Amino acid sequence: MATYTPPPGTADIFADEARRWRNLENTAAAVFSRYGYGELRTPIFEYTEVFQKGLGNETEVVQKEMYTFEDRGGRSLTLRPEGTAGVMRALSGTDVMNGVEHRVYYYGPMFRGERPAAGRRRQFHQVGVENVGRVAPLIDAECIAMLIDYLNAIGITDAHLAINTRGVMEDRAPAGKLLTDYFSRHIDHMCDDCKARLERNVWRILDCKQEACRRIVADAPDYVASFSDSSRAYFAEVCAALDALGVEYTVDPLLVRGLDYYVHTVFEVTHGGLGAQTAIAGGGRYELFLPGQKKPVPGVGFAAGMERLLMVQDALGIAGAPAPVLPVYLVGLGSAARLANLKLAGELRRAGVRVELELEERSFKAQLRNVNKSGALLAVIRGDSELERGVAVVKTMANGEQVELKDSELAGYLTDFARKL
Ligand code: HAM
Repeated sequence: MATYTPPPGTADIFADEARRWRNLENTAAAVFSRYGYGELRTPIFEYTEVFQKGLGNETEVVQKEMYTFEDRGGRSLTLRPEGTAGVMRALSGTDVMNGVEHRVYYYGPMFRGERPAAGRRRQFHQVGVENVGRVAPLIDAECIAMLIDYLNAIGITDAHLAINTRGVMEDRAPAGKLLTDYFSRHIDHMCDDCKARLERNVWRILDCKQEACRRIVADAPDYVASFSDSSRAYFAEVCAALDALGVEYTVDPLLVRGLDYYVHTVFEVTHGGLGAQTAIAGGGRYELFLPGQKKPVPGVGFAAGMERLLMVQDALGIAGAPAPVLPVYLVGLGSAARLANLKLAGELRRAGVRVELELEERSFKAQLRNVNKSGALLAVIRGDSELERGVAVVKTMANGEQVELKDSELAGYLTDFARKL
C-alpha cells in the first residue's frame, strides 16, 4: 500500500512512542517545579523581529533556518526556532524589568530548516527552562544542577557536561581581536566557512568541525585570560558551586554556542549514544532586549532536544512504559445487548475503568478474536437471552473460567477488579 509520509524532517508520533514523550514531559514538570519553576506556554509563531532581535541577526538560525511567512495583514511571522526569545517576549509584559525573578519551563515543537538527519529534524521538540531577571553565579550553577537532575530522573546518568564562559559584552571586543589576529595569520589553511566567519563572527571558528581548522584552533590564544577580573571571578564561582554540588564537568574553551545572546556561563551536555548529533542539551546565561526596552534583561536557561533524549534512552536500553493492561472488553450479541454494553461502558469509564467494546454487529468468534487482540483480562459477554434474564457472563481470559453475574452487580464487580490491578 502506498504511504503518504509527512514532510521531510517531521514525524508522526503514535501511542507507544507518545507515552515516552509524555514521560519526558511529566518528569520535567515534576523536577522543575521542585525548583520553583512554573509552566509557560507561548505561541508557536511570533513576529519575526522577536527572533531577529532576540537571537541576533548574525546567527545561523536567523540567517538560514527560520520558517518565515506573512500573515494576512502582510506582517512577517516566524515559526519559533527555539523557546527563549518567545519566553522573553511574553515576560516583557510583567514586572521582570524591576528585577523580579521569573522561573518558567516549557516544552513543545520548534522549527528549523536544517538538513534532516538522525537526531536532526525540521520540527523537533525541546523541553527547556528560563530563569529571568537576576544575575548571580549560584543561579547559573543551580540551573545546571537542575538539568543534571532531570537527565538522571529520565535515566541518563552518564552524559558529559562541558562549560565555558563568554565573559560580558565589554570582554568580547578585546578577546575577539586576539582571536582575529591569530586566525588572520592562519586563514589560508582554513575552510571556506571559517574564512567567512573571520569577517562575520570569529567566535564560530572555535567550533568548526573540519580537521585542518581544528588543528589551528587547538593553538589559539587563551582568550578567557583577557576577560576582566570580575568576569573570570564570576566563572570561578560557578565552577566552585558545581564542585560543591558534586556536578561533574569539563571546562571547554572551544564551547561558544551558536546563539548571540550568551554572556558569562555557557554549557552543553553531550552523550556518546547519539552518533553525529552529540548535543542533547545546551544553554547558558544571556542578555536579551525585550520589545520596547533600552536595557537588556538577564536570564539563564537551557533546552534539551526531546528526540535526542529518546535516542539516548534507546541507546541505554531504557524502554518506555508498557501499554497499560485493559481490564475489560464487552462482547455484545444483538443490538439490545450492544446498547446495554455501551451504557455499562460509560458508567465504568466515568468510574475510571478502561473499557473497550464492540459497537458494530459482529459474530461471536470475531468479537472473541478482538478480545484476545486487545489483551483484555476479562470479557463480559451477553446476548438477548442473558439480557432477558438480567445477567451477563464474565470470562477470565487467562484460564477460561466463567461466572454469571446479575446486571445490578456488574459495574461494582468490574470496578473493584480494575482497582485492584
Ligand atoms: P540550542 O543549542 O540551539 O539552544 O538547542 C538546544 C537543544 O535542542 C540541542 O542541544 C538539541 O538537543 C536540540 N536541537 C536543536 N536543533 C535541533 C534539531 N534540528 N533537531 C533535533 N534537535 C535539535 C537553544 O535552543 C536555546 N534556546 C537554549 C537556551 C535556553 N539557552 C538559554 N535558555
